[in-house]
Amino acid sequence: MERQMLRAALDKLRQMDALDECQQEVDPKFELGAVLKYFKNERPILFNRVKGSQIPVVGGLFGNRDIYYKMLNTTTADRLFHFMKAIANPQPTRLLKDGPIKENIITRNIDIRRLLPIPTFHSEDSSSFITAGVVVIKDPKTGNSYTSVRRLQVNSGAELSVLVASPFATQQYLDFESSNRPMAVAVILGYDYHFLLASQISSYTYGVDKYQVDSALRGEALALVKCHTVDLEVPAYAEIVLEGIMPPNKRKAEGPFGELMGYYGGVGQHPIMEVKCILHRSNPIFQTAFPCREEHLSNGLIREMELYHSVGNLVKVKDVNVTVSGGCRFHAAVAIEKQNEGDGKSAILGALASSKDLKHVVVVDEDVDIYSHDDLEWALATRVQASRDMVIIPGALGSGLEPSHAIAGVTDKLGIDATKPLGKGAEKFERAKIPGYEEVNIEKYFPEKKIKGGNGV
Ligand SMILES: Cc1cc2nc3c(=O)[nH]c(=O)nc-3n(C[C@H](O)[C@H](O)[C@H](O)COP(=O)(O)O)c2cc1C
Repeated sequence: MERQMLRAALDKLRQMDALDECQQEVDPKFELGAVLKYFKNERPILFNRVKGSQIPVVGGLFGNRDIYYKMLNTTTADRLFHFMKAIANPQPTRLLKDGPIKENIITRNIDIRRLLPIPTFHSEDSSSFITAGVVVIKDPKTGNSYTSVRRLQVNSGAELSVLVASPFATQQYLDFESSNRPMAVAVILGYDYHFLLASQISSYTYGVDKYQVDSALRGEALALVKCHTVDLEVPAYAEIVLEGIMPPNKRKAEGPFGELMGYYGGVGQHPIMEVKCILHRSNPIFQTAFPCREEHLSNGLIREMELYHSVGNLVKVKDVNVTVSGGCRFHAAVAIEKQNEGDGKSAILGALASSKDLKHVVVVDEDVDIYSHDDLEWALATRVQASRDMVIIPGALGSGLEPSHAIAGVTDKLGIDATKPLGKGAEKFERAKIPGYEEVNIEKYFPEKKIKGGNGV
């Protein structure tokens, strides 16, 4: 049985009863995205009948924390250390002579729209978009492979526009362009949880081969094969690979596109990709990602690791949550084990320094559940005095992916210290307790009903 990439992940999801299969025909224009959005992208769905195509489409795979942890074989408590270990100890990959991805090789008459069921998501989107494609490039100096999700706008025939918002990949493309050479790229569809997570670490910050980080994360060598037309490797068990080049000195209009925060991103001039070859397995499955906050959870998981480390340099951290509601980048809740007065404010400094994108952070004590909006609001309501506990930094560098600021990317930062005082002052913040509450078996009192909610059940 296969152990890597999408089919292996779907098998495991089926075993966990976490995959829904839709047998009703769906239109890739608006309808498919609407169904994914209805379930908040927290439910993996395989659409077996997609209008105008023989190829099924899968989406909603990566938006649920519990599923993500189970698929990675990790837990809330262990995840951050698991990721740190993999980045610090990349492991070798395994190059196979051949693999299922090479079962079909198309080099002629490439018409991407005709070949693949590529969804259109929002009314003002400029075109259909490949939103789950992991783009791989190779650093000519080190030979390292760098993977990352980039959205790809379908232009016409074999041409896509590529949105690259990354210092490393942008520089590499500009280096190729300055000597008038094309940059080889491949777009990978049909991957799994480890592969996506490894792709989300910053190439610029870590400079490690992301295929090797994937091997370390999954605990076995990632199986690769060589591409057909470019000097790149791709996963042997992926579903679909688009091989091609990004030619120098060519830019085309990209956007508008309904982005993760639910607003349209504008039109910009961006490089293009000319697709020269398509590899695909027999009976391939096309992978998509509805553009929404939940689909960025993998990115948020990496940010959490960096946030934990940055705050941990200053104070004792219990856990961190880069919230999905905040787009997996703008908002964080940090639980600390306060040892000194001032730790709350220091934690704010550490948090805001961990990433330019982080905009608002709340720091709480370890008795607050940072995954519960309810508990966080309770801490804000009962442990905060604004004049004492808020830190505002006006006009810092931020992310342009939300529209609230006057100059794109320049944004105010806010930290709220919602920790209680230490020592005698802490007494009045003690939570009222009911002895035996944790052990209450509520079904005993209502044997006829299926009880939901309550004390964690
Ligand atoms: C669903 C999803 C969509 C993304 N879309 C883009 C994109 O269109 N362009 C981009 O540059 N980064 C995008 N990202 C973020 C990058 O994939 C991520 O920052 C990158 O892999 C980090 O590697 P890098 O340093 O090589 O850019 C997306 C991430 C996810 C999870």
